[in-house]
Amino acid sequence: MKVLLINGSPRHKGNTQRALEEVAAALQADDIEAEIAWIGNKPIRGCTACGWCGKTGENRCTFDDDRCNELIQKAGEADGLIVGSPVYFAGANGSVISLLDRMFYAGGALMRYKPAAGVGIARRGGTIETVDQIQKYFQIYGMPVVSSAYWNIAYGRDPKEVECDGEGMHTMRQLGHNMAWLLKCIEAGREAGVEHTIEDKVSTNFIR
Ligand SMILES: Cc1cc2nc3c(=O)[nH]c(=O)nc-3n(C[C@H](O)[C@H](O)[C@H](O)COP(=O)(O)O)c2cc1C
Repeated sequence: MKVLLINGSPRHKGNTQRALEEVAAALQADDIEAEIAWIGNKPIRGCTACGWCGKTGENRCTFDDDRCNELIQKAGEADGLIVGSPVYFAGANGSVISLLDRMFYAGGALMRYKPAAGVGIARRGGTIETVDQIQKYFQIYGMPVVSSAYWNIAYGRDPKEVECDGEGMHTMRQLGHNMAWLLKCIEAGREAGVEHTIEDKVSTNFIR
């Protein structure tokens, strides 16, 4: 089994990367494969609401000039997903949100029911809001949200400073172990024939 970890910081080797490396090491210690994919530092376009993805049903965004489609494919192939973002103005970095809007609008069906977690990294404030913001994408696709020993947050400003946040690093390791445990439980459940009842969707009367 494999988990895709998206490093949503434009600083490739910054604190988000370091925190995700700690999660990845814990996953690997529990025999789960882990790949960290960097979002890059080139522009990531926002969703233009063109609706092309809905018409083709190909789980792809019509715009192919950034990493969105590649990451949809990687997330579709993985068994679990973790998205880490640096905190910018008390929320996730704008590129992460542009990416997730398009990844989930075009390819959310590929991620449905896979365990996932958001991670927020900051100098001082806005981590909880960032984790909440990221995890909204997971909740609308029925993805079990994985927690840790604390909220999935850690602190640091200059690159690698997050290593000094011992509690944050412990939180990252426990997140990896919890994700590994849940993936193994889901696999064992599948093998034991545990059923997952999925009802037909019902739309409310006042929003089409
Ligand atoms: C544009 C911008 C906005 C930021 N806003 C916040 C903020 O609201 N709260 C905070 O604690 N840190 C803020 N920071 C600091 C970063 O969250 C912090 O340096 C973090 O470690 C960056 O992660 P990285 O090393 O993975 O890039 C901001 C940094 C930038 C560049």
